[in-house]
Amino acid sequence: MRHLIDILELSTDEITQLLDCADEIIAHPEQYREKCRYKKMATLFFEPSTRTRLSFEAAMMELGGSVLGFSEAASSSSAKGESVSDTVAVVSYYADIIAMRHPKEGAPLVASMKSGVPIINAGDGGHNHPTQTLTDLLTIRREKGRLDNLTVGLCGDLKFGRTVHSLIAAMSRYTGTSFVLISPEELKVPSYVKTDHIKNRGIPYEQTTDLESVMPKLDILYMTRVQRERFFNEEDYLRLKDSYILTPDKLKNAKSDLAILHPLPRVNEISTAVDDDPRACYFRQANYGKYVRMALILKLLEDSGKL
Ligand code: CP
Repeated sequence: MRHLIDILELSTDEITQLLDCADEIIAHPEQYREKCRYKKMATLFFEPSTRTRLSFEAAMMELGGSVLGFSEAASSSSAKGESVSDTVAVVSYYADIIAMRHPKEGAPLVASMKSGVPIINAGDGGHNHPTQTLTDLLTIRREKGRLDNLTVGLCGDLKFGRTVHSLIAAMSRYTGTSFVLISPEELKVPSYVKTDHIKNRGIPYEQTTDLESVMPKLDILYMTRVQRERFFNEEDYLRLKDSYILTPDKLKNAKSDLAILHPLPRVNEISTAVDDDPRACYFRQANYGKYVRMALILKLLEDSGKL
């Protein structure tokens, strides 16, 4: 059974194949409309989502399959105390593949141990979000034409932002990557992420609290939301939430071919005045997410002998 819990479970060759497949789907969507006929995807979302859940559902429907599931824990039997393992053991009788989001780190991994069908981690707490990373990689490749030799700035909540942790892990495998980590002191990248994926790989990096001073060197600027739901007290969130607000003025020293990404949802960290800048990629990025999830569904079903 092939699951996707962590982005590093995919080799760089497999990632290239997935991105190639997503490009192919974008170019020729009509060729994919029957690929998953009679297949079902269950979306088990124990935490809120707009893009991830709906893009998975749209992806499965555009492959000719169908979808079932729930969008909040309260409408599932977890509200009565059912364990994730039991939920998944049962749902794997009803669906051919499962996408799961859960507020607890490791929940999709636990689910994969009891599942009879492929499990996709659609975000687990402040840990990982591998399909957002596939989305980010497709966006970077389509916007910049390459995944190597890029200076990647990550800005905002680098502590709780699971998309940041997965993207660092993924980008650390490409030649010539360097990272610029921009955050308040309290929201720095966790030391395990820095040690495992940056220091141990000898990747050049710098850490700063000042976005404008590093702006001219960036090829990618990955903005993130301060993750209110992971804070232990509201006061800290209120103090830190507007640490960075990207405005047209702050972009005046940026490269002309900078790519500005954001996994979304955005709260305040990118002014809407930036949206019309051709370097703003975040809505295109959300669109690419559907296509790369189509490619991933096909791959996991094929690798698990279900297609
Ligand atoms: N980027 C992302 O995971 O968005 P949602 O929380 O809306 O799914």
